[in-house]
Amino acid sequence: MSEERPAIEFELVTLFPEIFDGILGATLLGKAIAAGLVAAHRTNPRDFAPGRHRQVDDTPYGGGPGMIMRVEPIAAALEALEAARGPSHRILLTPAGRPFDQARARQLAALPRLTLVCGRYEGVDERVGAHLCHEQLSVGDFVLAGGELAAAIVVEAVARLVPGVLGCGLSADDESFSAGRLEYPQWTRPPTWNGHAVPEILSSGDHAEVARWRRREALRRTAERRPDLLERHPLTSEELRLLDTDPNRHT
Ligand SMILES: C[S@@+](CC[C@H](N)C(=O)[O-])C[C@H]1O[C@@H](n2cnc3c(N)ncnc32)[C@H](O)[C@@H]1O
Repeated sequence: MSEERPAIEFELVTLFPEIFDGILGATLLGKAIAAGLVAAHRTNPRDFAPGRHRQVDDTPYGGGPGMIMRVEPIAAALEALEAARGPSHRILLTPAGRPFDQARARQLAALPRLTLVCGRYEGVDERVGAHLCHEQLSVGDFVLAGGELAAAIVVEAVARLVPGVLGCGLSADDESFSAGRLEYPQWTRPPTWNGHAVPEILSSGDHAEVARWRRREALRRTAERRPDLLERHPLTSEELRLLDTDPNRHT
């Protein structure tokens, strides 16, 4: 373990801490945790629920199906983890949150401590988001059974942007979404598989032409697959020219 403080610490507030075993123990994130570059702590609100049954949920006011996570055990869990390790930026995972994206991941990667509150059942008491958390994030327009996988998405997307976490000094700058564009397509050996050949240009050795080709492919697939990205980040005149010289454009 390194003597220095980790570059980023995640606090996971969850009724099912074991769900995180895999993601926190394997691959680059597992290595970054083992090296002390990233830290992750899990706190279970059930440990802070009163009574013999440690009840963390209750029926919704106004009626309706399912159970709602109570505010007090979550508040006590947050208080305890911050008393132990210091204040943090608190995020509630909820389908009703602001859409999580690469730009937000970059901003969050600059913070020293992030707390991710995972809901379960029919959701959490509204006061958790309104009074205990700094922001609410959604990982997509679908409903998961709990916030743990949503939190795992945030942890992985954020942690890999922390300097030193990505292997071999790789840069995340060219990746999908970093400039409002999808990434260009990539291939590896063999040069032909089942009759499908790798584009010749990539073996030409002409680095400038390869870079140009890749930029054009990135723009092409962004226009085809994610026109919404181009609405938010319009094509520059240089990109328009590049697309115009696309040999496949009029086919
Ligand atoms: C079954 S969901 C509750 C859904 C809620 N009744 C609704 O319709 O918005 C239980 C928990 O899963 C998490 N969750 C589900 N979908 C999510 C998403 N798209 N983004 C972030 N968290 C999500 C939240 O923490 C939520 O409290």
